[in-house]
Amino acid sequence: VSVNSHFIDLKDIPADLLRHILDTAKKWKQARRGLAKGQVDPAAPLSGHALAMIFEKSSTRTRISFQMAMQQLGGTSIVMQGNNMQLGRGETVADTAKVMSRYVDAIMIRAKSHDALVELATEGTVPVINALTNKSHPCQLMADLLTIEEHLGSLAGRKMAWYGDGNNVANSLIEAAVKFDFPLMLACPDGYTPSKKVMKWAKDNSGDITLTTDPEAASVGAEVVITDTWVSMGDKNIDARMKDLEPYQVNAGIMSKAAKNAIFLHCLPAHRGEEVTADIIDGPQSVIFDEAENRLHVQKAIIAWCLGKI
Ligand code: CP
Ligand code: NVA
Repeated sequence: VSVNSHFIDLKDIPADLLRHILDTAKKWKQARRGLAKGQVDPAAPLSGHALAMIFEKSSTRTRISFQMAMQQLGGTSIVMQGNNMQLGRGETVADTAKVMSRYVDAIMIRAKSHDALVELATEGTVPVINALTNKSHPCQLMADLLTIEEHLGSLAGRKMAWYGDGNNVANSLIEAAVKFDFPLMLACPDGYTPSKKVMKWAKDNSGDITLTTDPEAASVGAEVVITDTWVSMGDKNIDARMKDLEPYQVNAGIMSKAAKNAIFLHCLPAHRGEEVTADIIDGPQSVIFDEAENRLHVQKAIIAWCLGKI
């Protein structure tokens, strides 16, 4: 593993390296049992290292989990809002990347534009981690995969179903399905389908990905049911979205068609009564808080991998 590996999209990272990141996350999670949350991991693998975080959009989980990840790894973190940086007053992404590369060892960014994130990675000299863009959310998917393995076991061949908007999280889920070899059905209405580019990449790489407009069909036999908000950060035409996506709500009817042992995932924040009913998201099949916790564990492994420490 070389230093300066970016973590931008799952599709660009070999499956064995993604596996290694997940296994490290699992091992480190176990090793922390009994430690206080702010306590540094005994090995302090990132002692002396600094991560800068840029947020161009809101965040609760990502911000706190990355900051605590650096704390637990023995490193330092700096959090910035994009609009409080000179970036927000027109400084170029390229200059920002070059300057930040002189101060810190890695940069995490939640960016409005995926292209700007790629430019940051190209123009800087330190690893860049994608903490959500309009196109993808790979850190979220790594947490989801860890959660699924903890609750159900190995991923390969396990049927999963996505409901609603074919958004950034859905794109990363498709990439994960190809990398970890599980069948995925996505129930999305016309106009809300995932990225055509990602769908083509999945097809070219023999992914078992099925798109349907029929909400009844997707969850049949699925062991994992996933959804996300109908209105992502930056989305417009909210009224039309709510109306178009309404038939794709995850509710008791949808879950009754899934496998008996099925679990429900949601990256959060959730909107009860919209994309999912309260009885499901707050019920026994929901693993949303394990999923949220696992952001911390996988991101520790992601940062360490980017810096060549694992
Ligand atoms: N799931 C997720 O990325 O949450 P935040 O927007 O709170 O970071
Ligand atoms: N799809 C959502 C995810 C939030 C974590 C968004 O982009 O707003």
